Amino acid sequence: MSETSRQPTWGGRFSEDQAEVMLRFSESVSFDKRLAPFDLECSRAHAAMLCHVGLISQDEKSAIHGGLDTLAEEMQKGRFAWSESLEDVHMNIEQALIERVPEAAKLHAGRSRNDQVATDVRLFVKAQSCEITGALRAVMKVLLDRAERDGKIFLPGYTHLQRAQPVSLGHHLLAYVEMLGRDLSRMGHVADQANWCPLGSGALAGTTLPIDREFTARMLGFVDAGGEPRLTRNSMDAVSDRDWILDTVYACAMIGLHLSRLAEDLILWCSSEFGFVKLPQTFSTGSSLMPQKMNPDAMELVRGKSGRMVGDLQTLLTLVKGLPLTYNRDLQEDKLPLFDACDQVVLSLQVVEGVLQGMEVNAVRCASAVADPVLLATDVVDYLVGKGVPFRKAHHAVGALVARSEELGVGLNEVPLGEAKKIEAHFGEDWVEVLDIGKAMAARERPGMPGPKQVGKQIRFWRAILGGE
Ligand code: ARG
Repeated sequence: MSETSRQPTWGGRFSEDQAEVMLRFSESVSFDKRLAPFDLECSRAHAAMLCHVGLISQDEKSAIHGGLDTLAEEMQKGRFAWSESLEDVHMNIEQALIERVPEAAKLHAGRSRNDQVATDVRLFVKAQSCEITGALRAVMKVLLDRAERDGKIFLPGYTHLQRAQPVSLGHHLLAYVEMLGRDLSRMGHVADQANWCPLGSGALAGTTLPIDREFTARMLGFVDAGGEPRLTRNSMDAVSDRDWILDTVYACAMIGLHLSRLAEDLILWCSSEFGFVKLPQTFSTGSSLMPQKMNPDAMELVRGKSGRMVGDLQTLLTLVKGLPLTYNRDLQEDKLPLFDACDQVVLSLQVVEGVLQGMEVNAVRCASAVADPVLLATDVVDYLVGKGVPFRKAHHAVGALVARSEELGVGLNEVPLGEAKKIEAHFGEDWVEVLDIGKAMAARERPGMPGPKQVGKQIRFWRAILGGE
């Protein structure tokens, strides 16, 4: 192969070309071209800095900036020809730039692809964290809307998937708002962790050139609340650190996990056995064989995709474990799981938003599922405790009362007072009032409980956090 066609960026030391399979094996441009907008931004800032410190002239900088604009335009119009033989997004852009603007041969001074890729991916994560946060807030908002609209419907709360105690739908939906609220702060942490500029770390040991790291950090928006630049403090760590990627994918996997639990509740609730809700047709699918079927595929996929995101996290943990300092090519493999987790989490959130928006609640089915007064047996125990009966004794007595109601073939609320008194003398005329579900809920107004005032308070709390959206 001729001199010129050999690897143009690092080919100088080589006398033989790479094996074809090695090219296919090592290329990353097929997926990292997604970083192009950030790579262009990074090069723009780097060129400006090189000019600022006198390493290139004003004209050279302007030529490079013009070339970067041209490339951006070509990419936008889909006219940019990516080449796998140029390995990755960075070399594709640099080579294309040099072809168009010879001055760009000066651009790579004082930087390496190692600090460049770390910078690009940090910019990508900062952008993604905004997108994921927006999608999260949208789901939280629709949960609050539903809690406001149908929140007063009672339904059984479950433990061990057995009916346990009544709750309101509002309280149940707000449980998911809490989870997503924690995810929201995790995404804040992700954005914060990504917000450190590694540019200027070079391959691993910085550079002898008089670069100005503050300048590029500022230009790329790696600044704190006061506008001060945030620079990574150790070049070796900076080029091999992938913690912020792991943080991102962990946060995505956690969102996926939370959504998978919501999905599972909805899958159960829309079954004929529960019948609490009907999911919108726009998010359901039919069966190719059974004409009557309407399946909650959207929620099953949300449940399934959470497994995929957990897999992405696992891939990254394994990738980084035991890697010696500093940059190793293994790290190129960090992008696919990162991109995948970000894409799948946004899609999952958007689908959940649509499903919650279009879901119909069947108040009649909820009411009948929660109607058995035995679900308030614990409240009867509390009633006796209020009369001075020790808790263990009261628990035992109510157990006997439930057994007695079954023997008599009547509901718990229909056991005659005389029978109740035989079991525990402290039962009074008023004991059956405890079995009124509305009163039972109204009696739970301490912080964190499902009482209607508490639920209203929590809705207001979260609305204030989400602002006027
Ligand atoms: N495509 C590479 C990656 O994503 C860029 C860094 C390459 N550095 C190197 N020393 N080969 O990791």
